[in-house]
Amino acid sequence: MNLHPVGIIGTGKYVPDRILSNQELEQMVETNDEWIVTRTGIRERRMAAPEQATSDLAYQASLKAIEAAGITIEDIDLIIVSTITPDMFFPSTACLLQEKLGAKKAAAFDLSAACSGFIYGLATASNMIATGMYKHVLVVGAETLSRITDYTDRNTCILFGDGAGAVVLGQVPEGRGFKSFELGADGGGGELLKVSGGGSRLPASADSVSSKQHYIHMAGNDVFKFAVRIMGGAADEALRKAGMSKEDIDLLVPHQANVRIIQSALNRLDLPEEKCMINLDKYGNMSAASIPVALAEAFEQGRINEGDCLVFVGFGGGLTWGASVLIW
Ligand code: UT7
Repeated sequence: MNLHPVGIIGTGKYVPDRILSNQELEQMVETNDEWIVTRTGIRERRMAAPEQATSDLAYQASLKAIEAAGITIEDIDLIIVSTITPDMFFPSTACLLQEKLGAKKAAAFDLSAACSGFIYGLATASNMIATGMYKHVLVVGAETLSRITDYTDRNTCILFGDGAGAVVLGQVPEGRGFKSFELGADGGGGELLKVSGGGSRLPASADSVSSKQHYIHMAGNDVFKFAVRIMGGAADEALRKAGMSKEDIDLLVPHQANVRIIQSALNRLDLPEEKCMINLDKYGNMSAASIPVALAEAFEQGRINEGDCLVFVGFGGGLTWGASVLIW
């Protein structure tokens, strides 16, 4: 089978207007700006308005990505929304987005791989285009993590924010596009980061609500150690599969969880900070939305040129991880 080269032909992002600053969090839990900045690098994060759900954020980001790609909505063959905060159990957020966009010809499904979800989505979409099944796929990472965050728990509430990033994938000239994907999972670490309530194991009840089972629970330090180990390792493996080396990297676009985790990946890859997109100071951790929002901003800021070698790398609940090498 002849595989078509596949790349990103348009990017877009949307973050809600409402800013939640570290100073405001100081009024809510026992914490302080200095602790949050030195331990995480985060200064503020965005929060969706009460009437906004994940598909609304996804919609705004998608419109921009579709326009940037220079295609029409009818050209979209498939919509993949990576999210752990869907509007509802079903219909999928991808179907809700399809309706909002009026993308009548598109198939649609959600993908659940937590913070690695966007890279899982890219891998899925790019293979569908490479094999000729589809021409244009909209891949969105969108989250309203504020809806599953316990704002009385200082271990987690300082970290998370809301936002959406979208890309359109399509065929690109020979030599460009995705060169490799490295995906992984370790279900044995699932307990470290989870929302246990509201599913078939623990359906919503007065008890599940009062015991806060519908919020994110995280063993922060264990996730931190896993992240430090996996970020460099996954990026290395994606480079190896692409037949490239760390010297080839023009821009690293990592998952934005903690600046110390990103720094450890930079050390492992011998990369200076100028070759890394970091925007977690403004947005915190937006799970599946972090990488596509960082990508869209890097592009807006003129930090990506034709022929550049980009590396995406992320990790998250599951546990899951993913990395990819792309020639822009
Ligand atoms: O996308 C994947 C999702 N998750 C992550 O990426 C999270 C990865 N983990 C982390 O980023 C870090 O582990 C945290 C930022 C969550 C925590 O940083 P840490 O350096 O691992 O701190 P720690 O959990 O070991 O806590 C150190 C101390 C504790 O006090 P004691 O027990 O030493 O007295 C905590 O209670 O810091 C305390 N602490 C806080 N203090 C002020 C925890 N949260 C806060 C806070 N403000 N918000």
